[in-house]
Amino acid sequence: MTATAETRIEPTDVTFKIRRYIPETDEEPHWETYVVSVYPTDRVLDALMKIKGEQDGTLTFRRSCGHGICGSDAMRINGRNRLACKTLIKDLGMNGEIVVEAIKGLPLEKDLVVDMEPFFDAYKAVKPYLITDGHEPTKERLQSAEERAAFDDTTKCILCAACTTSCPVYWTDGDYFGPAAIVAAHRFIFDSRDAGTESRLEILNDREGVWRCRTTFNCSEACPRGIEVTQAIQQVKRALLFRRF
Ligand code: SF4
Ligand code: F3S
Ligand code: FES
Repeated sequence: MTATAETRIEPTDVTFKIRRYIPETDEEPHWETYVVSVYPTDRVLDALMKIKGEQDGTLTFRRSCGHGICGSDAMRINGRNRLACKTLIKDLGMNGEIVVEAIKGLPLEKDLVVDMEPFFDAYKAVKPYLITDGHEPTKERLQSAEERAAFDDTTKCILCAACTTSCPVYWTDGDYFGPAAIVAAHRFIFDSRDAGTESRLEILNDREGVWRCRTTFNCSEACPRGIEVTQAIQQVKRALLFRRF
């Protein structure tokens, strides 16, 4: 046997159980099963594309970049929020069933697609942009490496909603700002160049703000960017407790 023959990997049939919902014809969501020939190193997104291309063109899901950057293909895979484009089939096991459904807590639109508007409403509400004191600077706004490090983790967010839609508080209370919006606020609250800290903290001091968090950690576990989401929420809580204004 040659070295090439020894290392050749063959495709395997894997069963995908997908929660489908087509509003024009379905009263309720239902499960459908597809058997797909995949390589262990294929991603769940590859399998979904194959199902759509070869078995059922009506299967609907979002995706864009295919490489963990755009944040559009967060879905619930085997009971856990993940990006379909970053989840290798071999990491889910080649023998069992792979269960795929839409993320929870946002209105279901079709198959794996949810209405993201409530999620982005919360994001917009925390003013996710640099607020300055109004004076045009004559040179770059400088900050030290330590000051930059204070919010480095939360700059990595791709707004995929995996955190917010894995939060049990958000499942029961859609008015909760949710972890992603708090991460967006954190990115500016701890930016030494920003002058909007007080207003953002006041927004999150709301009964639907940071105090709704029960430190469940689902958000940190779900984040495909490895952001310490719960820690960021705790830092915002502390900033509120110890603020001087
Ligand atoms: Fe996605 Fe992580 Fe940003 Fe939440 S914090 S939206 S899980 S990238
Ligand atoms: Fe929810 Fe994360 Fe807090 S899962 S309860 S926002 S720690
Ligand atoms: Fe862009 Fe997965 S398709 S993050």
